[in-house]
Amino acid sequence: MDIDRCVCQRTLFAQLLPRVRAGSWDLDRLMRETGCGAQCGLCRPYLREMIRIGTTVFHQVLVETNDSEGTA
Ligand code: FES
Repeated sequence: MDIDRCVCQRTLFAQLLPRVRAGSWDLDRLMRETGCGAQCGLCRPYLREMIRIGTTVFHQVLVETNDSEGTA
């Protein structure tokens, strides 16, 4: 199964990437502007990779790391 969207916001990563690129958004800004990643958070590692390398469709499960989120 491909992973290509924030389910909570019903938004494809492919719709987000141009906005990320145009605004040079980081993950925090993306979450503030769109709400994506700010609800259940399951899409956050994918959003992070999308921002980093521009991928909008993922074929493997990514899990959140605590590298930039800190510990809750
Ligand atoms: S899937 Fe993106 S916040 Fe839940």
